[in-house]
Amino acid sequence: MVLKFPHFIHGGDYNPEQWLDRPDILARDIELMKEAHVNSVSVGIFAWSHLEPEEGVFQLDWLEEIIDRLYANGIYTVLATPSGARPLWMAHRYPEVLRMSRNLTRNRPGVRHNHCYTSPLYREKVRLIDTALAERFGHHPGVLVWHLSNELGGQCFCPLCQEAFRGWLKDRYGSLDALNKAWWTDFWSHRYSDWSEIEAPVPSGETSCHGLNLDWNRFVTHQTVDFARWERDTVKAAAPDLPVTTNHGESYESINYFKYKDVVDIVSWDSYPLWGRDPDEREIGQNTAFAHDVIRSIKRQPFMLMESAPSATNWQEVSRLRQPGIHMLASMQAVAHGACSVQYFQWRKSRGASEKFHGAVVDHYGGSDTRVFQEVKAVGERLEKLDALLDGCPRPKAAILYDWENGWAMNDAAGPRNLGMHYLETVMAHHKAFWKLGVSTDVIDMECGLDGYRLVVAPMAYLLRAGIADKLRRFCEDGGIVLGTYWTGIVDETDLCFLGGTPGDGLGQLFGLRSEEIDGLYDGQYNLLRPLDGFLPREEYRLTELCELCKCSTAQPLALYGRDFYEGMPALTRNAFGKGTAYYLAARGEQALLDDLTALLCREAGIEPDLDADLPDGVSAIRREGSVTAVFLQNYLPEEVTVSLRRPYRDFESGEEVGSQLTLKPFEVRILEER
Ligand code: GLA
Ligand code: ZN
Repeated sequence: MVLKFPHFIHGGDYNPEQWLDRPDILARDIELMKEAHVNSVSVGIFAWSHLEPEEGVFQLDWLEEIIDRLYANGIYTVLATPSGARPLWMAHRYPEVLRMSRNLTRNRPGVRHNHCYTSPLYREKVRLIDTALAERFGHHPGVLVWHLSNELGGQCFCPLCQEAFRGWLKDRYGSLDALNKAWWTDFWSHRYSDWSEIEAPVPSGETSCHGLNLDWNRFVTHQTVDFARWERDTVKAAAPDLPVTTNHGESYESINYFKYKDVVDIVSWDSYPLWGRDPDEREIGQNTAFAHDVIRSIKRQPFMLMESAPSATNWQEVSRLRQPGIHMLASMQAVAHGACSVQYFQWRKSRGASEKFHGAVVDHYGGSDTRVFQEVKAVGERLEKLDALLDGCPRPKAAILYDWENGWAMNDAAGPRNLGMHYLETVMAHHKAFWKLGVSTDVIDMECGLDGYRLVVAPMAYLLRAGIADKLRRFCEDGGIVLGTYWTGIVDETDLCFLGGTPGDGLGQLFGLRSEEIDGLYDGQYNLLRPLDGFLPREEYRLTELCELCKCSTAQPLALYGRDFYEGMPALTRNAFGKGTAYYLAARGEQALLDDLTALLCREAGIEPDLDADLPDGVSAIRREGSVTAVFLQNYLPEEVTVSLRRPYRDFESGEEVGSQLTLKPFEVRILEER
C-alpha cells in the first residue's frame, strides 16, 4: 500500500477556490463531506491563478487553511499541481507556453490542457509553483498523494517540440543514415540529407512515411511522460516520501500509458462510461472492465479511480441520469478490478462556465436530501466496511496483449482493410470472452513480462517490439499457452516488413505455419470456420473482415474455411512448442467463436473462473486476492437474475451463508467469500 491512509478512499475533485467569497458554503462543504462519508478530496487542480495571481507572487495561505480544516475534520487531501491550465497573465506574457496545433498556428490563451510540454519557460514556471507547493504542503499530515497536472495528453507542433523531436531521433538512431534506412526514405525520394529537414507529420506536409508517423507518436508520449517526470522530480525534491500519481483519461490513441509505469507510484484514471445508452448495461460494463484491466496492468498493482461521475456528465452526447443502483454498480466494479478508491468529478457543481451542468455530489440546490447525494453516501458507507479487502487485487493467470504502438502502426498502414482493421475492438472482443466466463485477465503491452501467466492471447500483433516474439516463444516453451491471430508479425519495430515470411521474428516456428496472403472483406461479406472432429461446440462460425491464407509446417489444422476459393484451408491451428501449445486463429471470428475458444483454452491452461458458478450473460465475477479473498458478483441487467453456485460461499458483508441459488436484484453487487 503506497498511501498512508489504510482505507478505501472516497471523495472527489474539490474546487474551493471558486467559493472563497462564500465561507458559508466552504463550511457547509465540510459538513456535507462528513455526511457523505467522504474521506479525501482532490484540491488545487486548475487553481494556478489563485496560487500565483501575479508572476512570482505565491499565495498559498488560503490553500493551507482549506487543507488544515479538511484534515481537522478527518478528510485527507489529494494535492494537485496546477499545471493543467495556466493563468492568463502567463499565456499573454509568454506565448511559447501555448500549444501549436497541427495546422502550425499558435493557440490563443484560454481553455486548458493546451500547453507545450517542451517549453523550457513553461517547465520553469511549473517547477517554481510545484516547489512552492511541495515545500509548504509536502510534509503535511493531511496530504495523501500528489496528483500531477490533469489528464496529460494531446500534441504540440511548435518549433521547440520539433527541435526536441529531432534531438530524440538523434538519440534513437545515432546517424541520419540509420534513420533513412529505418524509415525507408528512398521511397518517393524522401531521403533526409540533414537533421533540420525532419518535420513533424502534419496534413500540409509529410504524412506518407510510416516510420516518421510512428516515431512522432512515440516522441509525443515520451515528451508528455517526461513532463510528468519533471513534475514528479520537482515535488519529490522537496517531499521525497509523498507518493505520486497522474490521472489518465480513457483514451487508447494519443499517449501510451504503459510508459508511465516507472514514473508514478500509483496509477490512476478517470472513468466515464456511457451508462444508460443501451437497454441493459452489459456492453458498457464490459468496456469499462477492459479499461480498468488496462489501468491495473500498467503496474500490476491496485490503482485509484480518480474521477467518475456521481450522476450524468455534461459532455456525452446525451446526459442520461443514472438509474438507481448504477452508481453503486460502477463504484464496486472499480473496486472489484483493483481500485483502492472511488472518487468523483466533482464534489460541488460550479456556478458558471463550461461544466456548470456536470453531475456532482452536491448540486446547485446545495442540500444532502437528493437522490444522487444519498447514492454517493451509500457507496461511502459500503466502502468503510470493506477494509479487510484493501490489500487485495485481481491476480489473473491470463493476459491479453494490447500494445499502443502496435495500434498506431496498424491503423496508419494502408493495407488489407482501409475500412477499418478494428484492432482495439478485436482485443476487446477477446477480453469480453474472458469477462463472460468470469475469468480475470490482465491487459498488457509488449514491454511487460509474461511471468505468472498460463495463457497469453495476442491478437493482431502486427508490429513486434520489445522482444515480444522471444518472450512468447520462451513462454510457450516453458509450458504456456499462446493464442495468436491473423496479421501478426508483419513489421519490425521501425515498421519495416519482415522478409522471408510472416509471422516474422521466429513466430512462424512458434505457430508452425506461414501466412501467405490475407483477404480483406467488405462489410457484409463473410466466410465460415468449420471445426474439425467437433473441436469446438458449433458446426460453423462466421468470419468477417480479414481472412489469412496459411500453410502449415508443423501446425495441425483444427478448423477449416468453409467458403470462397480458400475453402478447406486452415482457419484455426494448433502447434506443440516446447512444453506448451500455440494456437493460431487465421481470421476475425464472431464473438461466439472467441467465447468457445477461450473457454477451451482456459480449461487446457487449468485456469478456473473466479467464481465456481454458471454465470448468466450480463453477470460478472471478479476475484480480489489479498489477506482476505473475495469475489465481486455484479448484475449488469435491469432485471433479477439467479446464479447457480457450485461451491458454498458466504456473503462477505453480512457473514451469512448463501445458498446454491443466489438471486441478484437489478444492478446488484454481492461480495462473496469462499467458505
Ligand atoms: C475530465 C477532467 C475533469 C472534468 C471531467 C468531466 O476527466 O479531468 O476536470 O472536466 O473530465 O467529466
Ligand atoms: Zn511545443
